[in-house]
Amino acid sequence: MIKIAPSILSANFANLAAEIKDVEAGGADYIHVDVMDGHFVPNLTIGPLIVEAIRPTTSLPLDVHLMMENPDQYIPTFAKAGADIITVHAEACPHLHRTIQLIKEHGVKAGVALNPATPIDHVKHILEDIDLVLLMTVNPGFGGQKFIKSVLPKIEQISQLIQIRHLSIDVEVDGGVNEETARLCVEAGANVLVAGSAIYDKEDRGAAIKAIRSTL
Ligand code: DX5
Ligand code: ZN
Repeated sequence: MIKIAPSILSANFANLAAEIKDVEAGGADYIHVDVMDGHFVPNLTIGPLIVEAIRPTTSLPLDVHLMMENPDQYIPTFAKAGADIITVHAEACPHLHRTIQLIKEHGVKAGVALNPATPIDHVKHILEDIDLVLLMTVNPGFGGQKFIKSVLPKIEQISQLIQIRHLSIDVEVDGGVNEETARLCVEAGANVLVAGSAIYDKEDRGAAIKAIRSTL
């Protein structure tokens, strides 16, 4: 039931197709794609061209995490490039319902992400319209950062709210997820675990995925 989404941010970009096939063979459920614009977060990473290029290399869903200002401008392009899930940050979307609508108009699943310091109030009014809530467990921008434990109560709160309202929404966590922290997230109610360095920094990615699963 728990899905594991390796983040290719920590993969070898000179060898992306093989890096993706490696985690697919190793039991990954999604491929997590971190898009950073150098404004919303202090880093620049992947654009739609890369999403389009990797699309044919895997049959796994591409879970595209947009860490960018004004995502509306690029949602159609990412959808056409082959994204299966597009997640935007609540902090970057003044007209969140409109942005979610735009994602859905393109036949793509829609998610909303919250930074560690953003309360769950920012998604309460849109839960009925989305497929996924992404709770950041680090401040977005880089792989390999330390898990922020104070996000755990937020995971519990949002999971309870989803249950009370009888919704079927994925609760995804992203940042510092590893063999030690994965279980805490799942116990709090998360069902999709993004892991970058905990998988791609290991030589045997299949073993790394299994190691995380074995702790759950
Ligand atoms: C952080 C990104 C994450 C990142 C996770 O800004 O959104 O997806 O790749 O990397 P780890 O698992 O190494 O913290
Ligand atoms: Zn991410």
